[in-house]
Amino acid sequence: MARKERYLVGLDVGTAKVTAIVGEIMDDGGLDIIGVGMADSRGIKRGLVVNLEAAVDSIKRAIEEAELTAGIEIDTVHLALSGANVKGFNSRGVVAVAGKTREITREDVRRAIDAAKAVSLPSGREILHVLPQDFVVDDQDGIGAPVGMTGSRLEVNVHIITGNASSTQNVVACVNRAGVEVAETVLEQLAASEAVLTPDERELGVALVDIGGGTTDFAVFERGSLWHTGVVSIGGDHFTNDIAVGLRTPVPDAERVKRRCGCALSLMVGEDETMEVASVGGRKPRLMPRRILADILQPRAEEIFHLLWDEIRRAGYEKSLHSGIVLTGGGSMLEGLAEIAEQIFDLPIRRGYPVGVGGLTDHINSPAFATAVGLVMYAHRNRHVDDQAAVGAGALARVRGWLRAFFREFQA
Ligand SMILES: Nc1ncnc2c1ncn2[C@@H]1O[C@H](COP(=O)(O)OP(=O)(O)O)[C@@H](O)[C@H]1O
Ligand SMILES: [Mg+2]
Repeated sequence: MARKERYLVGLDVGTAKVTAIVGEIMDDGGLDIIGVGMADSRGIKRGLVVNLEAAVDSIKRAIEEAELTAGIEIDTVHLALSGANVKGFNSRGVVAVAGKTREITREDVRRAIDAAKAVSLPSGREILHVLPQDFVVDDQDGIGAPVGMTGSRLEVNVHIITGNASSTQNVVACVNRAGVEVAETVLEQLAASEAVLTPDERELGVALVDIGGGTTDFAVFERGSLWHTGVVSIGGDHFTNDIAVGLRTPVPDAERVKRRCGCALSLMVGEDETMEVASVGGRKPRLMPRRILADILQPRAEEIFHLLWDEIRRAGYEKSLHSGIVLTGGGSMLEGLAEIAEQIFDLPIRRGYPVGVGGLTDHINSPAFATAVGLVMYAHRNRHVDDQAAVGAGALARVRGWLRAFFREFQA
C-alpha cells in the first residue's frame, strides 16, 4: 500500500465542535487512530452554514491539529452530514430476472436497486445513501444475498437518505475552502453506528440516538439493516440555556455547571448536595442545592425522550428495539440521562463509546467522538470491500463477504 493510501480521515462538523480524526491502516488490516483535532464549532448550526468564514476557520483549526498530532498532511476527508435537512424513507424496487437460466446476477441486483431509487424527490433534494435492507426472490422474503439464487422476480427493500442539495454544497464548500477535498459524505448516525453498535445489536434491533449540541439524531437498525432515521430538534445546548435562564447565570457558566454538577434524574441527587453558581453582572457566586439543577434538567430530558419515543412509535418500530437504545454524542454524557431514559422507554440503555480501533484510544474514548471515529471505520470498511473486489471473485467465501458489505451499503 502506498504511504498516502494508508491514511483515512473523518471530519465531523457539528453544532458544538468540529472533529477531525486520522486513522492508519495497519499491515494486519486493523485500524489505528493516529491523529485527533478538535475546535469549537463556529458558523455551523444543525448542519447548516450560517457564517461561512467562521465555519471555514473552525474546520481549518481542527484539521491543522489533526495533521500535527498525526504528523501527516491531510488532503481528503470523509464528511459527516447531519441535521434536520437530512431525511430518510423506505422504498422498494422490483425487476424481472434477466438471464435465460433465471440465475440472479449482480446486474439484476443493481437494476432492482436502481428501480427502488427511481422515486420522485421534491426539487432541491438529492440522494445521499441507498441502503439495501433485504431481498425477495419470487415469494421467498428475508433474503440477504440473492446473487446465484434462481428465480424470475427480484424485489429489494431499501432505506433511502436524502439531503438538501444546497445545504450539503455549502458545508462541502467550507471544507474545500479549509483546503481539503471531500471523498464521500456519510449520514452522521450511520457513521456513529459503525463505531459503537455491535453486530448483535444491529441484528436484534436497536436505536442509535446521537444527542449533539442542537439536535438529537437517531436511527433504527434491525436484522442487520437500517430501517428508520429521524431528528428531534432539541440537543444538549437546550439544557445549557435552561440552566442559564433558570439560575440566572451566563451561558458559559451554565455550560460548566451542567458538565460538573448536572444530573437529568432528580432522584439521583441527595437533598443536601450543594454547588457553586456564578452570578450575572459581577455579583458574588452563590451556593445552591444541586437538586435545583436536576429539577431544571429533568423536564428537558423527558421532553427529548418523549418526542423520540413518539417518532419511533409513529414509524412503527417500538417493538423492534430488542437490544434497547445506545446513546452517543456529547449530550449523552449528562449524568442520569441513561437512567431516566431507562424509566421512560423501559428498555436497556447504554452509552456508546467507540470500539474496534487501536492507537490513540484514550483520546477518543468518549461518546462525543462516535461520529468522527465511525467515519474512519466506515471509510476503512468500504475500502476493504474495494480491495476484495479487485482481487477477483475466486473463492466463494470472498464473494460472500464482498456481497454482504455491498448490500449493506450501496452508494447512490
Ligand atoms: N460532560 C458533559 N455533560 C453534559 N453535557 C455535555 C458534556 N460534554 C458535552 N456536553 C454537551 O454535548 C453537546 C455537544 O455534543 P457534541 O456531540 O459534541 O455536539 P455536535 O455534534 O453538535 O458538535 C453540548 O450541548 C454540550 O453541552
Ligand atoms: Mg454530532
